[in-house]
Amino acid sequence: MEGIQLLLVLLPVAQGANYPCIALVTAGMAVLATAWLVIRLVFVKGTNTSRGPWEADGMRLVPGSRGLPIIGETLEFLTQSPSLQLPAFFKRRLDRYGPLFKTNMIMEDLIVSLDPEVSNFVLQQEERLFQMWYPDSFLRIIGADSLITTHGLLDRHIKNLALRLFGPENLRREIIQDVQKTVEDSLSSWLNHPSIELKEAVSSMIFSVTAKKLISYDSSTSDRKMWKQYDAFTQGLLAFPLCIPGTAFYKCMQGRKNVIKMLKEILNERKKTEERHESIDFFDVLIEEVKAENAEMTENTALDLLFLLLFASFETTSSGITAMLRFLTDNPEALHELIEEHNNIRKRRADKNTKITWEEYKSMKFTSHVIHEALRLASIAPVMFREAIEDVHIKGFAIPKGSKIMICPYTVHLNPVVYKDPSTFNPWRWKDIPEPAGGASKDFMAFGGGLRLCVGAHFAKLQMAVFLHCLVTKYSWKAIKGERMALSPGLRFPEGFRIQLFPKA
Ligand code: HEM
Repeated sequence: MEGIQLLLVLLPVAQGANYPCIALVTAGMAVLATAWLVIRLVFVKGTNTSRGPWEADGMRLVPGSRGLPIIGETLEFLTQSPSLQLPAFFKRRLDRYGPLFKTNMIMEDLIVSLDPEVSNFVLQQEERLFQMWYPDSFLRIIGADSLITTHGLLDRHIKNLALRLFGPENLRREIIQDVQKTVEDSLSSWLNHPSIELKEAVSSMIFSVTAKKLISYDSSTSDRKMWKQYDAFTQGLLAFPLCIPGTAFYKCMQGRKNVIKMLKEILNERKKTEERHESIDFFDVLIEEVKAENAEMTENTALDLLFLLLFASFETTSSGITAMLRFLTDNPEALHELIEEHNNIRKRRADKNTKITWEEYKSMKFTSHVIHEALRLASIAPVMFREAIEDVHIKGFAIPKGSKIMICPYTVHLNPVVYKDPSTFNPWRWKDIPEPAGGASKDFMAFGGGLRLCVGAHFAKLQMAVFLHCLVTKYSWKAIKGERMALSPGLRFPEGFRIQLFPKA
């Protein structure tokens, strides 16, 4: 019975695959389902739902269900919710079990935290009670030697290297100007089109800034659009890990293969030509690290780091910018105040065409409110994963060592106690709520928190602010298509978001 149910559920997963392929999948899954049933009957005596040594301490294990065999509750988790409210998957379980519940999805047993206090505690206890962990399917795409699998000193060392490039000092010295130039060029090129698919255009724009810094990659002259290889990534990272043609997971794996191939080609080129090129990029820094005596960094670590930085830098920020413009389109009052802030900055300049200075950037208070408000609502990174490295007791629950936790910041960001009318886009609320100085707080986790806080938080905010400055001082826009934002479980634009750009008189 369970095997039949499983096949019925799995068939749609193979959507897009051709017929013989579906037949193969079906046969393969039948074998898997039978094997699963045998294993369950022979080895599994029961699920760890209640009794154990914890009871003596008055603790309970987290309640919940594992769902269907093999696929668990993956499909319901991935179902698109029609708005930016808490998705139905979470709402149903929150009502039934409370803010901590157990599930099984993407082939993993997980404890889900919708509890702001627990989520914050888990992030703050990095390397003490918990440590960063990501599902196997995720690592197959992002890379087994990626930064997210490293801990302790090596993690800190790699992060420091990345912060040399993306930390505030280099943003002030160098990157702010590079970003402005790229944004100005992109915006003026959009004028030639009757409409622009915003997320795609912004992705390409941001990729060219980051890829230039990381690997001296020039998108305008390259015939192979590297960023397009990352196309299916947001869908694929949390998809069921079925690697057959037609699935989101397969597309991701193909994308990864292609990008790693391109990066390896660049690496081999550089190893051949010993003499340095003019400006040293981040790839050169990593190659030096690999060559160093007693090096902990291997070629694979370096390639996976570049792969992650390229992906993390453009996909997230482009979603943030698109969401911001979507919100502003519907909020003329907020847009008006934003335009005023930037016009005032421009008016204060002796020469209107001078570049944005660091001091000007730091003075963009309302812009910063708009950015925080958009990131609060947009759920760009909807889940974070951790593993308990000790037995942990919290709020009457026992979390045994080895448990995998999925932190979901929705309820932190939609907490009505902190954010009045939490679903409303209201940048003015940040006049009363202090913006998190270091990038995160217990009430704002868009960039994570604790030791694993996003490396690119400052860079992302800078790009969003510079983009807004260049846009609202010189252009206006009209929405052409795409009203809706949805969650699946992260931010999606189901109909895209197309705009037309006009020069200001
Ligand atoms: C709006 C834009 C962005 C958002 C919302 C965002 C969100 C996040 C979040 C939530 C985490 C923590 C993941 C965890 O704790 O499990 C994270 C980590 C990370 N982010 Fe970002 N990010 C953004 C932009 C960027 C940019 C521009 C870069 C690169 C320059 C970047 C690179 C990274 C890296 C490398 C990590 C892993 C850090 C570690 O392993 O300790 N992100 N990001």
